[in-house]
Amino acid sequence: MSDLQFPPGFRWGAATSSFQIEGAAESRGDSIWDEFCRVPGAIADGSDGRVAIDHYHRYREDVALMASLGLDTYRFSVSWPRVLNPDGSVNPAGMGFYDSLVDALCAAGIRPWLTLYHWDLPAWLPGGWTNRATADAFADYTLRVHDALGDRVRIWTTLNEPWCASFLSYAGGEHAPGHTDAAEAYAAAHHLLLGHGLAVRALRAADPDATLGLTLNFTPAYPADPDSPADADVVRRVDGTSHRIFTDPVFRGEYPADVIADAGAAWPADLVRAGDLELISAPIEILGVNYYTSQQFRAGADAAEPTPHPAAPDAVVVERPDLARTDMGWEVTPDAFRDLLIGLHRDYTGPAGSSLAITENGAAIDDPDPASGPIDDVERIDYLRGHLRAVHQAMTAGAGIDTYLVWSLIDNFEWAFGYTKRFGLVAVDKELNRLPKASAGWYSELIRTATLCLPEQA
Ligand code: FCB
Repeated sequence: MSDLQFPPGFRWGAATSSFQIEGAAESRGDSIWDEFCRVPGAIADGSDGRVAIDHYHRYREDVALMASLGLDTYRFSVSWPRVLNPDGSVNPAGMGFYDSLVDALCAAGIRPWLTLYHWDLPAWLPGGWTNRATADAFADYTLRVHDALGDRVRIWTTLNEPWCASFLSYAGGEHAPGHTDAAEAYAAAHHLLLGHGLAVRALRAADPDATLGLTLNFTPAYPADPDSPADADVVRRVDGTSHRIFTDPVFRGEYPADVIADAGAAWPADLVRAGDLELISAPIEILGVNYYTSQQFRAGADAAEPTPHPAAPDAVVVERPDLARTDMGWEVTPDAFRDLLIGLHRDYTGPAGSSLAITENGAAIDDPDPASGPIDDVERIDYLRGHLRAVHQAMTAGAGIDTYLVWSLIDNFEWAFGYTKRFGLVAVDKELNRLPKASAGWYSELIRTATLCLPEQA
């Protein structure tokens, strides 16, 4: 075995999100995900988030579990329709839940890391993210949450994966609200970024010492044929609407010219107003990186189905049969993760003086039923080990990375896949008992020693 040591002060933890774990839907308003779950065929197993894994009622047990694993950081999200009423007033019981959760985390010595938006938008906001007013509503909501929790929560992420909340949701139709309109997707992307900027301004004014960030998902795109200009152009366009449409406004204060040109008539007139980009590019301390896989593309015929890549309907995914896959069908590509982190540091966070945090990384594995005994999820351990090695390599190459959070602490509602995909370090049985898998013990030991042991052949 060879060992890789992580530096003192490196933050270790796990992540979840409100809609995926909380349940207790009767004590909050509807989100767009509640509505989407009611659309026949939208969710693979016909399930929903009404009970989920009942974290709302079992949070004390879940915090005790985190403490037993030795997590020092827990990233969770707040459900906007739980803490605010449709008239904008605070729902005291809903806010009280997070108040108690944060207290329990602090009492257990676990640092709370709060994500303000992980997709469960209140259903009552007209037009959702296509409406500019939603960005203002988000900043108001942000301050209400900060008023209640800001004395104990010191790390704030505004948005989780705005690509999913815009392109996958409004162009690809795969996530709530399930629309398939490119212009709506561009509008949603800009309004999400504007909401981020307004929230950062509000938090900065209220709490100058808070650590603020934004989390993006990255799926690096590669050309199937490195010598093909057509493949290179597909990759440029996929990368444009997946990544650069978010990183460039935030870190450089501008939308990439090629992204706007490729959008053509789908880029709404009057979308970006004077002052928007100044707000969006206000300095932040952290770029959160969610990473699962990379993809290879070639240029092909235009897709007949709706696509989350509206500027690249001709993008065809080319599978790489030699690579291992997770239960999502996602190829296991840790080297692309290393290269991504080095590139983000070089091009964006390094020059901006921000750090990188891995806010999600993990694998869906088709674990056996917990009823059949302890789950020995060696594939998940292999995945995590390989990706932590990539993080360490990027750090050795100079990338400033200070956090690693596994997705996920516990098996949960995986959006359009319902409960059919399992990402957790901890399983949940039919009675909702929590059952740590082998990966939980492995991760706990890693946190204790801050040392990643690699088998010789790795
Ligand atoms: C990310 C989401 C998270 C979870 C993982 C698997 O895109 O942020 O909620 O679904 O993927």
